[in-house]
Amino acid sequence: MAEYDYDVLVIGAGPGGYVAAIRAAQLGLKTACAEGRETLGGTCLNVGCIPSKALLHGSEKFDEAKNGTFASYGIKTGEVTLDLDAMQAQKLDSVKQLTGGIEFLFKKNKVTWLKGYASFEDAHSVTVAGQKVTAKNIVIATGSSVTPLPGVSVDNDAGVIVDSTGALALKKVPEHLVVIGGGVIGLELGSVWRRLGAKVTVVEFLDQLLPGMDGDVRKEAAKIFKKQGMELKLGTKVTGVAVDGAKATLTVEPAKGGDAATIEADCVLVAIGRRPNVDGLGLDKIGLELNARGQIETDHDFATKVDGVWAIGDCIPGPMLAHKAEDEGIAVAENIAGLTGIVNHDVIPGVVYTFPEFAGVGLTEEAAKEKGEIKVSKFPMLANSRAKTNHEPDGFVKVIADAKTDRVLGVWAIASVAGTMIAEAALAMEYGATSEDIAYTCHAHPTHSEALKEAAMGVQGKPIHI
Ligand code: FAD
Ligand code: NAI
Repeated sequence: MAEYDYDVLVIGAGPGGYVAAIRAAQLGLKTACAEGRETLGGTCLNVGCIPSKALLHGSEKFDEAKNGTFASYGIKTGEVTLDLDAMQAQKLDSVKQLTGGIEFLFKKNKVTWLKGYASFEDAHSVTVAGQKVTAKNIVIATGSSVTPLPGVSVDNDAGVIVDSTGALALKKVPEHLVVIGGGVIGLELGSVWRRLGAKVTVVEFLDQLLPGMDGDVRKEAAKIFKKQGMELKLGTKVTGVAVDGAKATLTVEPAKGGDAATIEADCVLVAIGRRPNVDGLGLDKIGLELNARGQIETDHDFATKVDGVWAIGDCIPGPMLAHKAEDEGIAVAENIAGLTGIVNHDVIPGVVYTFPEFAGVGLTEEAAKEKGEIKVSKFPMLANSRAKTNHEPDGFVKVIADAKTDRVLGVWAIASVAGTMIAEAALAMEYGATSEDIAYTCHAHPTHSEALKEAAMGVQGKPIHI
């Protein structure tokens, strides 16, 4: 009889966990994946990336038809109205198809789905739904949940104070949505409901939106969202929210101190970050401690300090992104199988899927400057022929290169398709490209991607179109 039930047991079936499980099975390891949710795919497929993108896409179409973009191409519409139930139904359909797709992939690759939440008994065994299961290797991929704001109680069913999960499932368009937190979730979901007709106010503690992004991008983001009609209260903190029936009253004050004020809203979205899911995992039973941010630390191979226990995705340090979790999933499975799985954490793109999209990879200009001498060039989308003909004047592409070696250190883009464009920059950086390499690579015309080539030509000192 085998010493263990499985070679690999993955806890959590989000983009990190399900990918790790499939890759482990592909490599010939007997694999199980414990997931307590009713469907596979984790936060991303159930209440994150996928439903938010379904609503972002749908609301963008509505906005185009309702608020004049169609008219700018000479397309006349009759009265445009919203069927929110139908929009929510198409969202759920995308979620259902994709989560069902993972179940199909588990069956195809012979990954056993253990239905229930897993808790460690020791480093090689967990309890899932009352059953003890043993494995030679256990991968923790439990993801993350919304960080609560002290004193503010989220109630997604009531729909007055909600988190991202509640904001994805609102049954009516709020009159006034106040978003606490001007980060990725606040701006994506704020954009959805603004396009569908809500007045949206974003209250952000810091002086700028989108922490972590390049300074120019953050400044431009504030201008663009204001132009779109969002009210921004930057450098402002929420000190309390009182709910009276269907009405919420927020008390806010300047982050640096000053007089308090109130804001009335019929919906409040709390989006101040996410924190690792570690409660109930029984980490104390295996002696695995968390770092100061509540994350599980690993080495470059994704091994924890406890032999046979590995960790990936949102529950370990690094950006909380689905593609980062997926790449770590592949790498950890390869490392368990005795191969060499590597993730280059210096080249992980990030994208905000608003309109336009905001994307970046590598260092910000501020961070690059701290490391040494740099060359920087920015090319405006206004001068890009495709953006111009598509009536998309906002944004730019910025290339940051090392002044001596010309190696590309970072690329930032604001454009309708910045999320797609940034893949080219990530590939270039992965290959150690110089800005000259990008500048001398032929780019199809007319495409938004030519703006990246022109920004790289700018680093060389010679763009053509500005
Ligand atoms: P998760 O996806 O959180 O999955 C972890 C799974 O583990 C969950 O299903 C949970 O039920 C399960 N679990 C937890 N504890 C246990 C246990 N003890 N036993 C069994 N199962 C357990 N990222 C992007 O890259 N692009 C986007 O567009 C994007 N949009 C987002 C939009 C929203 C609204 C949100 C909230 C997040 C978004 N993200 C996006 C972030 C992305 O969802 C996460 O980075 C990603 O899901 C992390 O993957 P993971 O596998 O680490 O964890
Ligand atoms: P975030 O970290 O992006 O933004 C949170 C914002 O809230 C920050 O700007 C912060 O300064 C602000 N804040 C914190 N406390 C505050 C307070 N008391 N009052 C006012 N503002 C306050 O976190 P967010 O938006 O919740 O997203 C969580 C994670 O989910 C992110 O790390 C992101 O990586 C991931 N995500 C990714 C998406 C994508 O890739 N497109 C989409 C949505 C989420």
